[in-house]
Amino acid sequence: MNITFLLNGESVELSGVSPDATLLNWLRKNRHLTGTKEGCNEGDCGACTVMVTDENGPRALNACILFLPQLQGKAVRTVEGLSTNDTLHPAQQAMIDLHGSQCGFCTPGITVSMAVAHLNDDQNHDDVLAGNLCRCTGYAPIIRAAETLVDKPNPSYPETAPGFFGPEISSGGGDSRGADGPPPPAQSPTNSDELAQLFAANPDATLIAGATDVGLWVTKQHRPVTPAIFLNRCADLREISETETDFRIGAMVTMDRFHALMATPFQSYAEMLRRFASTQVRNAATLGGNIANGSPIGDNPPALIALNAALHLRLGNSRRTLPLEDFFLDYGKQDRAPGEFVEAITIPKQPDRLRVYKLSKRFDQDISAVLGAFNITVTDGTVTNARIAFGGMAGIPKRASHVETALIGQVWGEEAIAAAWPAWEQDFTPLSDMRASADYRLSSARNMLSRYLLQDLGAATDVLEVTP
Ligand SMILES: Cc1cc2nc3c(=O)[nH]c(=O)nc-3n(C[C@H](O)[C@H](O)[C@H](O)COP(=O)(O)OP(=O)(O)OC[C@H]3O[C@@H](n4cnc5c(N)ncnc54)[C@H](O)[C@@H]3O)c2cc1C
Ligand code: FES
Ligand code: FES
Repeated sequence: MNITFLLNGESVELSGVSPDATLLNWLRKNRHLTGTKEGCNEGDCGACTVMVTDENGPRALNACILFLPQLQGKAVRTVEGLSTNDTLHPAQQAMIDLHGSQCGFCTPGITVSMAVAHLNDDQNHDDVLAGNLCRCTGYAPIIRAAETLVDKPNPSYPETAPGFFGPEISSGGGDSRGADGPPPPAQSPTNSDELAQLFAANPDATLIAGATDVGLWVTKQHRPVTPAIFLNRCADLREISETETDFRIGAMVTMDRFHALMATPFQSYAEMLRRFASTQVRNAATLGGNIANGSPIGDNPPALIALNAALHLRLGNSRRTLPLEDFFLDYGKQDRAPGEFVEAITIPKQPDRLRVYKLSKRFDQDISAVLGAFNITVTDGTVTNARIAFGGMAGIPKRASHVETALIGQVWGEEAIAAAWPAWEQDFTPLSDMRASADYRLSSARNMLSRYLLQDLGAATDVLEVTP
């Protein structure tokens, strides 16, 4: 593939790029920009954080699971490019002044995260840095350093100037389609019509969206991902729209944008998304990827099923829509034909009765052991509708249908919950694994229903709400 992007303000043109070449390896091996560190090589530690800017502004991304073709037309700034005119970036200076660094391995990634947050005027330092693991300094001095940035000026980087994108970086170069012969190893369609034709003609290709799953197939499993089709240039798949009745979210909408969208209509959903991975991963991971991977522990499917969301699939020129819950057939098996892809998700507008409870060993940046999503309608004290769905309780994201039936028609309260007790075992036979035992999963799921009731009664049930 041929790609063009900016690196620390200078234009870079690469030809013959391998679709599975990561930015981290390229920076360190080809450019000797070794300030960007390799810690985990799987998106967990943030030592490889870089700033990537496009027409939507700057964001922090993990270079270890970012493939070079995803950078087409964007601007990358590494820790080496943070300082301007031999003056350290205010984040770098603050880390020195406030003793934010000991061994220093995490420090480049942390300063890049801080610099991006400063540009975006984001002062949620705990959230910003949840994806940057520091093993020795401790976070207090690091957060103190971040807090001092508030009144410091931002260095002027050309790519962050308004109106920079478009004319400055070539928008071509990503497509290496050939008319004859074997399919090229990677293609980069520019809209979903092109994607539909390409994927229908090459159904064995790997679709690459944010690469937060696919990146690990390469760095951890050394799996081939070619032929590959990159979705990052399909702008129409990034659209969000709404009608009087629905929100429609394109498959390529990132978790970060989806988080912002959910903040008003479904607050508990948004609060769960704040704990989805880390800032760097949410800036790359897409809603379509989180559904299409078919994971039984993906965080979005249970919440979306509880909201009665619909999935829009496309194969060539034909489209179909199905309730999201029907997409998950069995462990590792989804209702998706070869060459068919996720185009969008629609969520019906409704009163916000949704509560989403994510149970994981760590508060931040951790995969769920159990995720319960409850959407229960109570009319005049009686349960009139219930949609309850779980991740981590079966081989697929699954509704608690027997529990729902047991609740509907009952007076909403402890007795209804007690009456529904046996139904849980009809719905779920969870597994024991490294995240949780089967017993723990089942009793946690039951307890989540009690938590929902307690919240309805006004009790503080969240760790962040309970204060001494
Ligand atoms: C450090 C880390 C933390 C994480 N934490 C969480 C977490 O807390 N919760 C959670 O749920 N997940 C988590 N994940 C997993 C991952 O971020 C999500 O599953 C993510 O939403 C995947 O989206 P993506 O765009 O990166 O998908 P990709 O990696 O690009 O693709 C994933 C799969 O979906 C397919 N695909 C992508 N887009 C489409 C499409 N439009 N149509 C059809 N197929 C498609 C790909 O071919 C591939 O099989 C984490 C991952 C990492 C690395
Ligand atoms: S090296 Fe750990 S997130 Fe990239
Ligand atoms: S200073 Fe050593 S890991 Fe953060």
